[in-house]
Amino acid sequence: MKVVIIGGTGHVGTFLVPRLINAGYEVINVSRQNRESYQPHTAWHSVKQVQIDRGMAEKDNKFGEQIRELAPDVVIDMICFTQQSALQLVEALRGHIQHFLHCGTIWVHGASEQVPTRENQPRKPFGEYGINKAAIEAYLLKEARQTGFPATVLHPGHIVGPGWVPLNPAGNFDRGVFKKLAKGDEVLLPNIGMETVHHVHADDVAQAFMRALENWNQAVGESFHVVSSEALTLRGYAEAIAAWFGQEANLGYLPWEEWKKTVSEGDAAATWDHIAHSPCCSITKAQRLLGYNPRYTSLQTVQESVKWLIDNEGLLS
Ligand SMILES: NC(=O)c1ccc[n+]([C@@H]2O[C@H](COP(=O)([O-])OP(=O)(O)OC[C@H]3O[C@@H](n4cnc5c(N)ncnc54)[C@H](OP(=O)(O)O)[C@@H]3O)[C@@H](O)[C@H]2O)c1
Repeated sequence: MKVVIIGGTGHVGTFLVPRLINAGYEVINVSRQNRESYQPHTAWHSVKQVQIDRGMAEKDNKFGEQIRELAPDVVIDMICFTQQSALQLVEALRGHIQHFLHCGTIWVHGASEQVPTRENQPRKPFGEYGINKAAIEAYLLKEARQTGFPATVLHPGHIVGPGWVPLNPAGNFDRGVFKKLAKGDEVLLPNIGMETVHHVHADDVAQAFMRALENWNQAVGESFHVVSSEALTLRGYAEAIAAWFGQEANLGYLPWEEWKKTVSEGDAAATWDHIAHSPCCSITKAQRLLGYNPRYTSLQTVQESVKWLIDNEGLLS
């Protein structure tokens, strides 16, 4: 089976491409070739690299055709952000492929209501990214159910792995928060620290893509959450990371309007995006239909990533 992965050298592709090669798939990675995977792996020697800038190719309405010309059995689309992008691919690939896997996001749900959130809850996304991803999901599932286009949608949580900064207990990407927790310094959290975040290890996302491929008949026409088994409250997350460093967490709390003035505009925006969603998603459907079984808890995945930052980027120095 030939798999074309669009955007295969990022967080998920770093783990998914070696899994595909090891499982015997022929793999073509389509990207601008601006970057390499986060971790090296001998499997990459077996991957054919094709250089296409999706944005440019879509402007000329050529992208779908270019992907079809690679003659894939399976297409994995890691980097689709508008329904129009999805439509171009679907129109070009209809009748030519056996499976189409789209990488979505748990942001399709908007703010959590009944938790853990299940895939069948009504979508109430907010923000351009979540709204567009929900539109793509609705479009692909409709195409699958009405016309038989073999689409599956996988919705990861906050993707974590060795090589990049994980979402921190303040709900943003300031690595200094981990340093403060390691030293026992005070960390301020918004509100009372009870809003939630839901991480997932990039290799568990890769696992879910593999399971979806292996369980075609259960996967087509369906969407699945791909997260760790449990979400974390900001407070619980901060306390657990401090304890991991042998410290008691020194936490302070401020109402949102005051808290946001204590950090940069970018960090405040990231925190707001996360706490306004406060995700807590169920993986029961992926467990039941795909046999998805995450290897990492949220804390284990963050610990691995923080350890990598300490060892490779001097996080604590
Ligand atoms: N990050 C998260 O926490 C998170 C959470 C939930 C869902 N998601 C979803 O995950 C997906 C992204 O996956 P990822 O995080 O593994 O990717 P990523 O780390 O952002 O990597 C992006 C990949 O796409 C390629 N790429 C970027 N722009 C391109 C373009 N214009 N044309 C061709 N290739 C391009 C990059 O290579 P080049 O730069 O070399 O082109 C790279 O291979 C998205 O659908 C996102 O919605 C992410």
